Amino acid sequence: MSRLFEPYELHGVKFRNRLWMPPMCQFTASSEGPSAGWPNDWHEVHYGARAAGGVGAVIVEATAVSPEGRISPFDLMLDRDEKIPGFARLANLIKEGGAVAGIQISHAGRKASASPSGTPLAPENSTLGGIGWQTVAPSPLPFTPRHEPPRELTLAEIKKIQTQFIEATRRALDAGFEFVELHGAHGYLLHQFLSPLTNHRVDEYGGDLEGRFRFWKEIVVMIRGELGNKFPLLMRISATNWLPQAQFEMRRDVTLEDWGKIVTELARLGVDFIDVSTGGLVDGVTVPEAPGYQVKYASEIQNRGPLPVSAVGMITEPAQAEQILVTGGASVVEVGRPLLTDPSLPLAWATRLGDEAPVPEPYTRGTPRI
Ligand code: FNR
Repeated sequence: MSRLFEPYELHGVKFRNRLWMPPMCQFTASSEGPSAGWPNDWHEVHYGARAAGGVGAVIVEATAVSPEGRISPFDLMLDRDEKIPGFARLANLIKEGGAVAGIQISHAGRKASASPSGTPLAPENSTLGGIGWQTVAPSPLPFTPRHEPPRELTLAEIKKIQTQFIEATRRALDAGFEFVELHGAHGYLLHQFLSPLTNHRVDEYGGDLEGRFRFWKEIVVMIRGELGNKFPLLMRISATNWLPQAQFEMRRDVTLEDWGKIVTELARLGVDFIDVSTGGLVDGVTVPEAPGYQVKYASEIQNRGPLPVSAVGMITEPAQAEQILVTGGASVVEVGRPLLTDPSLPLAWATRLGDEAPVPEPYTRGTPRI
């Protein structure tokens, strides 16, 4: 049997294989009223089809902890208990398809209030009268000159957002999700706290690495303290911001050595697994997108800390995925965009690797009728 289709276990949860679906925003939720952020028919078809298509886990897209934390007005949102049934339906569909149901919990910080293509949306009460809102961040530094500067979070607001993370995580577990992934990557709020490029605070949430990590640390401690130790907790990170070397050194950005310390600390606090991505914090940098371009970062993070990792990013061939696992570069491989156009990609990949395809049982029944 290939490594890719070998079962995997994390914190007591069993996955049928190591080929997972990463979070991918659909930007199709309704934006207003009490149903804002509810999963709808599209989400059910989309996630259900990919679970039945054979992946080991489906990680539901970035789901905001609050309206202000949405990337766009059309994001999923777990801000109220009333929405739990909508998410329970999604978790059920995914499990019915044979995959483990995970969900990514997120706050977009200064990158919130954007259109699905990333264009900043003007706040409703601005002179432009748009459908956006005032964004918040560790420091009042806009993502690009086209973005309105975010408002700097007060200490009370920081505590409130941390509570929202805990509450959204609790709702996800109440809905039946089997693991939660905190979105610490792609330049969103957690990432904004961690990097010295976006965090210029002079209080206890800024300054050195320990200060900038405090926001993460307190959330993980609260999740484990208040919600217990019964479920896997994952963290998605951006292992590099792709800064040119001179700029990287000048800004003293987070190094791979720092990541070793951060991951060791996250493990101690109760995180089980690191989903290694890159980028998203700084606009205008060159990302050398090529097959497997982020895999070396996954193996660096795995080698420098005590936690297993997943690799993601332009992994498009079964032999390529298998090679990553066999050489120990990662414990799990995630495939995003290819799954959007081919929900049953794992069935084809299993056959190509000489394994039995994880075909759903109803598809194996019956005889051809003519
Ligand atoms: C993404 N990605 C992403 N990442 C994340 O952490 N949370 C998210 O909600 C999203 N949303 C999203 C939407 C869409 C349409 C795409 C294409 C991507 C990034 C995604 O999880 C993955 O890391 C990248 O797509 C790279 O993997 P592939 O697509 O090259 O396999």
